[in-house]
Amino acid sequence: MSIPKTHYFEAKPAVASRPRPVHLRLGGLDLELQADRGVFGSRGIDLGTMTLLKEAPPPPQSGDVLDLGCGYGPIAIALARVSPEARVWAVDVNERALELTRANAQTAQAANISVATPGDVPNDIRFDAIYSNPPVRVGKGPLHALLLEWLPRLTPGGAAYLVVQRNLGADSLAKWLAEQGYEVSRLKSKKGFRILEVRSGS
Ligand SMILES: C[S@@+](CC[C@H](N)C(=O)[O-])C[C@H]1O[C@@H](n2cnc3c(N)ncnc32)[C@H](O)[C@@H]1O
Repeated sequence: MSIPKTHYFEAKPAVASRPRPVHLRLGGLDLELQADRGVFGSRGIDLGTMTLLKEAPPPPQSGDVLDLGCGYGPIAIALARVSPEARVWAVDVNERALELTRANAQTAQAANISVATPGDVPNDIRFDAIYSNPPVRVGKGPLHALLLEWLPRLTPGGAAYLVVQRNLGADSLAKWLAEQGYEVSRLKSKKGFRILEVRSGS
């Protein structure tokens, strides 16, 4: 019998839903969020995600901020709670993830989150900051295409913060971004993860 393979980045996960609570504890936040099978990080907040939330600079107090590949929403929710006057866009292709983010944002009383598929974000929105635990598993070509789609939407002076595992190609991704003309710095290297800061080149 062959068991169908499922990926966390499918629009409609093939695996049956089985919601489970996970806990987001960060600074003064202590939230119970719902995760699910077929959505990244369903067993608990991902270590890379926690590293990004702890080590990246806080989001701007206002303006538009993007969580690229929001999953069930831990990054978007933390950003929205830290900057209640900013609008946080939580974007994903996985419909189950988007549903969870909507529900989790409500539970977390994070009213300043807009949950959207990539195509639903108005074209004229520019982001003062982008935070992402990007979907490295989609493969190098699609990952590069994804970054080239969203990074040009940073405002002048805006920055993207990406967490990538060192052994999943963080350094080659940083090199490739620099080759595309971005200013890339390694903000932190911790527990096998790199936090990359990416800015538009001058
Ligand atoms: C590594 S997971 C991170 C999820 C969540 N931010 C977290 O930290 O738990 C990457 C996410 O990117 C999403 N993703 C994959 N391809 C995408 C695309 N083209 N546009 C937006 N999101 C995408 C996946 O569905 C997945 O939820």
